[in-house]
Amino acid sequence: MTATSPGDPFEQDLLPSPPGATAALLRSLLAPMRARVALTTTVLLLQQAAVQVGPLLVAYAIDRAVPAFRDHRYGPLIAVGAGCLLCALLSGGLQMAFVRQTARVSQDVLLDLRGRIFRHAQALSIDFHERYTSGRLISRSTTDVESLRELMEDGLQELVTVVLSFVYISAMLLWLDLGLGAVAVGSFVPLYFLIRLYQRRAGRVFRARSTAIAAVIVKFVETMNGIRPVRAFRREAANDAAFAALNRAHERTNGDSLLEMARYVVGSRLVANTAVAGIVLWGAYRVADGSLELGVLAAAVLYLRRLYDPIDRLGMFLNSYQSAAASLEKIAGLLARTPSVPEPVTPRELPPPRDGFPGREVTFDGVRFAYGTGGEVLPRFDLTLPAGQTVAVVGSTGAGKSTLAKLLARFYDPTEGRVLLDGVDLRDLPTAELRRGVVMVTQEAFLFSGTVADNIAIGRPDASRAEIERAAKVIGAHEFISTLPDGYDTDVRKRGGRISAGQRQLVAFARALLADPAVLILDEATSSLDIPGERAVQRAMSTVLRGRTAVVVAHRLSTVEIADRVLVMADGRVVEDGRPAELVAGAGRFADLHKAWRDSLV
Ligand SMILES: Nc1ncnc2c1ncn2[C@@H]1O[C@H](COP(=O)(O)OP(=O)(O)OP(=O)(O)O)[C@@H](O)[C@H]1O
Ligand SMILES: [Mg+2]
Repeated sequence: MTATSPGDPFEQDLLPSPPGATAALLRSLLAPMRARVALTTTVLLLQQAAVQVGPLLVAYAIDRAVPAFRDHRYGPLIAVGAGCLLCALLSGGLQMAFVRQTARVSQDVLLDLRGRIFRHAQALSIDFHERYTSGRLISRSTTDVESLRELMEDGLQELVTVVLSFVYISAMLLWLDLGLGAVAVGSFVPLYFLIRLYQRRAGRVFRARSTAIAAVIVKFVETMNGIRPVRAFRREAANDAAFAALNRAHERTNGDSLLEMARYVVGSRLVANTAVAGIVLWGAYRVADGSLELGVLAAAVLYLRRLYDPIDRLGMFLNSYQSAAASLEKIAGLLARTPSVPEPVTPRELPPPRDGFPGREVTFDGVRFAYGTGGEVLPRFDLTLPAGQTVAVVGSTGAGKSTLAKLLARFYDPTEGRVLLDGVDLRDLPTAELRRGVVMVTQEAFLFSGTVADNIAIGRPDASRAEIERAAKVIGAHEFISTLPDGYDTDVRKRGGRISAGQRQLVAFARALLADPAVLILDEATSSLDIPGERAVQRAMSTVLRGRTAVVVAHRLSTVEIADRVLVMADGRVVEDGRPAELVAGAGRFADLHKAWRDSLV
């Protein structure tokens, strides 16, 4: 498991987001809704136009309508009133349309994105998952997607509103009075630099914050996944301390971001208020000397308030933009990963099976293999298993038995050389063929939520209940399943605690049998069974394995009795290879192992 420290550099090291990946992702997400984005923008343009007419009406009222009213001409003032009402109705209605549109667009984008993350993560190879951990994936598809939602639903609206009102208001001010307008527009220069500064500093803080919250989630998930060893080794106090440290680190980054925000707000208000004060003073002076109408000054001041009001909100937008950008970068990094065990470009079919004989020939042809960063586990491996042969693989811990099994199941591809199934490279087999061809049962015997029957049928979802029960009976799982509260329909998650490790292995066996593969790999698959249970499975094995090619990795030598051939592995090499009886009679390692095992039985 990966140790996680505050500000974990792991994420950046492991998944540098390729340049341009973030922008490309954003484009691909928005491309299908170009029309709706355009419609939304139009609605907002109209809405802003309706909003920004207000102060103009005020100027007209003060300078024209009120004097007319004094002369008993009521028309202009009534027109102003009607205009105000119309603008209010229009802007309200358009606002509603806009909010509905953005909500729909953002919901569709998020739906698409979550689906992509899930599909992509599921398609990535085992070596990726060994390093990336589920906690990180969870934080990608929850907090990171969520921050994108915030940006799209609130932030983007803020930004567009702010930018539009800047444009509208600047135009209005310049049109009302060139001088006053120029002062207002001039104040954008310091504001621009302030925003740039904030963006740079907040960007750093936000990236740190998003990494910190991911670290909190990773620690949480890892601890709860490993709750049994946590309890067994009394790790609670140590975990509490580690979690508290991560939590504090997250809190610190939160504080940092608030501080940046506060600096920005204070700075921008300072600029805004200075500009308003300047305009009011200069405007009042010009009203006094008659070069400016009072109504125009009133409208200018109203516009200025509207101009600077949203600047705080612009800060908010930058906040959600920064955190969404950090999140999007991570999601893009994840989506840019390519499976290290890819689907073939030009798939090849397996030759048709021989009549009534499911097994296929397995060949390791000059295979060398190393896990990611580690040293070579299989130095150079050549092996041929004829179709239908049952091979037992034994050897000390770390000898490379599971590695051999995983290469055969194509969890990984060899660093060099080929693994062949009836002469076809596993890399050329389409996934569906590979799944039918090779099935591996491991020690873990993982059960998914659902019923016992669902779990058995995973390798062949179209299997009938009778077929499921037959598989369970052959394996010897039927008895315990019948004693469950709802038999085959018992929900394993609800009753999960009651299904023992050995019973889980029986279910996993039944699952493999039902899948009916050409090559069956059992890696310590009987390790949790008791002696009678293992005996029962072994008896069943002769039926299950008949005609199939089988690789059985086992520490308990009793398993070896069903094998046609035994391979003894040490340091990634086959050191002995022969029929069980020959090896037992010989003077090699297997003979020693077997003798020791015999002695232990009596
Ligand atoms: N996912 C992995 N990443 C890096 N190294 C690994 C990985 N899995 C195994 N190894 C290394 O590869 C070597 C062979 O491991 P393997 O699991 O094949 O041994 P094994 O023979 O199955 O042992 P055991 O009997 O304990 O199951 C070991 O040195 C192990 O440390
Ligand atoms: Mg192993």
